[in-house]
Amino acid sequence: ARPVSVRIVEVGPRDGLQNEPGLVPVATKVALIDALAGAGLTMIESGSFVSPKWVPQMADTAQVLAEIDRRDGVRYPVLTPNLKGLELALASGVEEVAVFAAASEAFSQKNINCSIAESLERFAPVLDLAKAQGVAVRGYVSCVLGCPYQGEVPVAKVVEVSERLIAMGCYEVSLGDTIGVGTPDKAKAMARAVADQIGVARTALHFHDTYGQALANVLACLELGIATVDAAVAGLGGCPYAKGASGNLATEDLVYMLDGLGVDTGVDLDALARAGRAITSALGRTPASKVAQALAAK
Ligand code: HMG
Ligand code: MG
Repeated sequence: ARPVSVRIVEVGPRDGLQNEPGLVPVATKVALIDALAGAGLTMIESGSFVSPKWVPQMADTAQVLAEIDRRDGVRYPVLTPNLKGLELALASGVEEVAVFAAASEAFSQKNINCSIAESLERFAPVLDLAKAQGVAVRGYVSCVLGCPYQGEVPVAKVVEVSERLIAMGCYEVSLGDTIGVGTPDKAKAMARAVADQIGVARTALHFHDTYGQALANVLACLELGIATVDAAVAGLGGCPYAKGASGNLATEDLVYMLDGLGVDTGVDLDALARAGRAITSALGRTPASKVAQALAAK
């Protein structure tokens, strides 16, 4: 049955801004993260400790973490693809990190330059050190409903990688429809197959909105009892230079729907929409979120 409350993992400062064609100033990122915390979000993915040659947009993550106004009860996780990333994250005093695998071999190679099996081997020492330091680790699986390079991705592969991440010590797995190609029945069947193996409470949704299906897919999966959903304020992402990619489900759209369903999120929609307008105006655009556009026109 549908959950009574949903925990939203805000990924805009990371998944959104990693796709910007230009470099976003540290102060702009810090203002965004602080505004998101002010709107009531309690999980704000704030950057990545990845190779600056691969993703230059996240090269300033240590500075961002040093300058945000850390609030009690709010976590500011970052991506760490390897031990080097975790060591840098620990030096920044993080309380949580995320490792990211894929259900598609081709995507794994393009994204982190290794096979799925190699990536899991690389994550083992990351999980061990994180555990020793009392740092929680989230796991991502990308391409759960399709891959830009390989096309179809078998559900069995999504389940297998998810189970491995949990067995290694991730507290939850976030299922990434990286290119937003999924539709509700397929999304629900995939999420059910994973939740049946790792548990509903360890299953999270991370849907991109490329084909406008993200909200419908989330609604379908909520019926399974899944209660953690990733979203990006203003639907950040979707850089004009990244072919085929689009932003995550917009947090405003998610909160509006959940408010209407009577599902608690703890997020103040007006404050959230203000944060979305501020960051998109700093980027020279308007929010991709329909809800944000409607609220701005009122
Ligand atoms: P590689 O080139 O195979 O790694 O990249 P390497 O170990 O040979 O290192 C190459 C250079 O990077 C070296 O520097 C390392 O020191 C440095 P050099 O000696 O050439 O000067 N390096 C690092 N620097 C800083 N932090 C680190 C780090 N590691 C190595 N942690 C690697 C392998 C994984 C590093 C690379 O492929 C990488 O950084 N990939 C990141 C890609 C990425 O961030 N993608 C976006 C996030 S995933 C995503 O968006 C999907 C998600 O949203 C879910 C969904 O939507 O599906 C999560
Ligand atoms: Mg993503």
